Amino acid sequence: MPMNKQLLGGISRDEFLRDYWQKQPLLVRNAIPEFTGLIDPAALFELAGNEDVEARLVRQKTKGWDLQHGPFDESDFKAKRGGAVWTLLVQELNHYLPSGEALLQQFDFIPHARLDDLMVSYAVPGGGVGPHFDSYDVFLLQGHGHRRWQISAQDDLTLIDGAPLRILQNFEAEQEWVLGPGDMLYLPPRYAHDGVALDECMTYSIGFRAPTTQEIATQFLVYMQDKIELEGRYQDPDLALQVHPAEIGAAMVDQMAAMIAQVQWGRADVADFLGRYLTEPKPHVYFQPPQRALGFEKFAAQANKKGVRLAPQSRMLFHADQYYLNGEPVTLAGCRDALQALADTRQINTSMADDVLMEWLYDAYVDGYLIIGG
Ligand code: SIN
Ligand code: CO
Repeated sequence: MPMNKQLLGGISRDEFLRDYWQKQPLLVRNAIPEFTGLIDPAALFELAGNEDVEARLVRQKTKGWDLQHGPFDESDFKAKRGGAVWTLLVQELNHYLPSGEALLQQFDFIPHARLDDLMVSYAVPGGGVGPHFDSYDVFLLQGHGHRRWQISAQDDLTLIDGAPLRILQNFEAEQEWVLGPGDMLYLPPRYAHDGVALDECMTYSIGFRAPTTQEIATQFLVYMQDKIELEGRYQDPDLALQVHPAEIGAAMVDQMAAMIAQVQWGRADVADFLGRYLTEPKPHVYFQPPQRALGFEKFAAQANKKGVRLAPQSRMLFHADQYYLNGEPVTLAGCRDALQALADTRQINTSMADDVLMEWLYDAYVDGYLIIGG
């Protein structure tokens, strides 16, 4: 997709990264000209009825907030239409709509490893999720309707105790704008904000991921646990008589410490872990293998005609020469150009593919990781 120069309001991607990314908000009027959204409310409500879809319904009551998790049926929305102010949030729209996936690709000046998903919110007039902050960067792109955003660089990020949603106790707006279709607001992490629908409106959130140190270290240890193969066993031929048989003696601690110190890792282990971890599908994500898979020859003929693309749920990344797809390393020698193009652009023309690559693509197709069509 050609770069839309208006997406960042006329500044270059380098300038955006230097001056705004993780630093300060950026309001862009008409970031996507003629954008009115990717899905209409009725189709969104239907999507929110699917049990694999992560959907939340937030209701603002006279006293406090109410949060429900999907799946929802039509009646959930109808009942709420009569009176209470509510908003419906649906995650991973990019998995369900090709236009959602295409929208995310406009943001690929940020590495894919940082990308999380495309969320959409539908709100009745007055609806919103309250003043809060997020731990992640977000681009808030207005679809149909209008939303008033108030934002604040405040340091006080104390949340209301016991609320089902993360709501700031003391929000003091410093700036505000009304965003209409195609307008966009970028917010760095931990920037307080509050978006209120002025009319029936939908807002698209392009969200990023940034794991905490605790999360990444814990997951790395899980990875190491599967990987280590250590020799030896505890031994004590020089065992001395202990005064207290219940005591864990110093010699035992020393020897065990030396055993544990054999667990070692280097940068290559970290890179391999990241390739797997960052491409691992989220637990609720399912792939849909083709119902009646084509045989290899037919697949190859179709692929050559139409190209292939990653399934919308697929995540593919690489480090040095090693590629990863959906949590697994790709064991394919060579084929670097094709794999790189597939990882970067999510699609490739297979006319130059050799048999080895075509067979790998076929396996990915049978698993539902890849689909035919450019
Ligand atoms: C919304 O779209 O209503 C909420 C998005 C956000 O504040 O992060
Ligand atoms: Co937010």
